[in-house]
Amino acid sequence: MEQLRTVQELRAWSDAQRRADRRVALVPTMGALHAGHLSLVAEAQRHADAVVVSIFVNPTQFAPHEDLTSYPRPLESDLDQCRAAGVDAVFVPAPGELYPEGAQTFVEVAELAKPLCGASRPHFFRGVATVVTKLLIAARPHVAVFGAKDFQQLQVVRRLARDLLLDVEIIGAPIVRDADGLALSSRNAYLDAATRREALALARALDAAEAALTAGEDHAAVLLEIAGKEIARAPSARLDYAELRDPETLATRERVAGPALLALAVSFPAAAAAGRAAPAKVRLIDNRVLRPPGAPVAPGTDSQQRGTPR
Ligand code: PAJ
Repeated sequence: MEQLRTVQELRAWSDAQRRADRRVALVPTMGALHAGHLSLVAEAQRHADAVVVSIFVNPTQFAPHEDLTSYPRPLESDLDQCRAAGVDAVFVPAPGELYPEGAQTFVEVAELAKPLCGASRPHFFRGVATVVTKLLIAARPHVAVFGAKDFQQLQVVRRLARDLLLDVEIIGAPIVRDADGLALSSRNAYLDAATRREALALARALDAAEAALTAGEDHAAVLLEIAGKEIARAPSARLDYAELRDPETLATRERVAGPALLALAVSFPAAAAAGRAAPAKVRLIDNRVLRPPGAPVAPGTDSQQRGTPR
């Protein structure tokens, strides 16, 4: 596995793959890799001959009060996991590589970035869109893979690739969960055992809303109330948002008449973990694309781990 540190090295590697007629896939990450990230690698390997994983904790997507400094950075274990997964190259740049001295150019996806996580984290998607654009320009992949765990991020990236005429196919991969249902996230590492059990409220809230839908309730207000009640049963949970939206446009939906994204963000107190600085709060997100009972699953609109959406 090659370790690339500079944009120049990344370009040279990608060019060499293309010259050898190999399809290149990029999997952007912030490291602290888990089975969710590795599922993106596996998906990338299905679409390409050479896979590069980028590991970069992107400063521009963190607000000053957020967890940039404490974000976990277990680089050696990340490299081991990439090697074991058959990754061809990792790109581990220093911040100056992606943000040259004096950088002042940013990418903003105007509408899709506004609601949901964009409302609670106004800086966030500008940082994500900017770094993903830079990575796509530098790595020149044929395909890039993103997880549906961050559903709004996936849609923002799809939009920017289209809007900026980037010659890349954006692929969405389903949410990977722990056996108990908790969506895998690098930030789960901040939770102590008791809070982690409380965090199962997110998956339970999605299940409860889906069960109500199956039983015939399709009004957003009622489904969101059902989800909210599940969250409220976790004593230390603070609901940031629970919303029902169109999976493509992210416009609000009053009813589940077609596919509808149920998206949740919930904060929990972080464990006072010994030996490393942790943030005060851990914000977890989860989602499910709900469908009217009996409706077929349209390609690319599912967010669940039941086969690979294309
Ligand atoms: P990070 O949180 O490290 O996630 C990297 C990729 O892994 C994202 O596409 C995310 O959706 C996916 N992922 C995370 N948990 C997942 C899970 N449980 N199941 C499936 N996929 C999962 O998202 C980012 O980093 C950054 O914003 C980034 C896109 C790298 C830009 O800095």
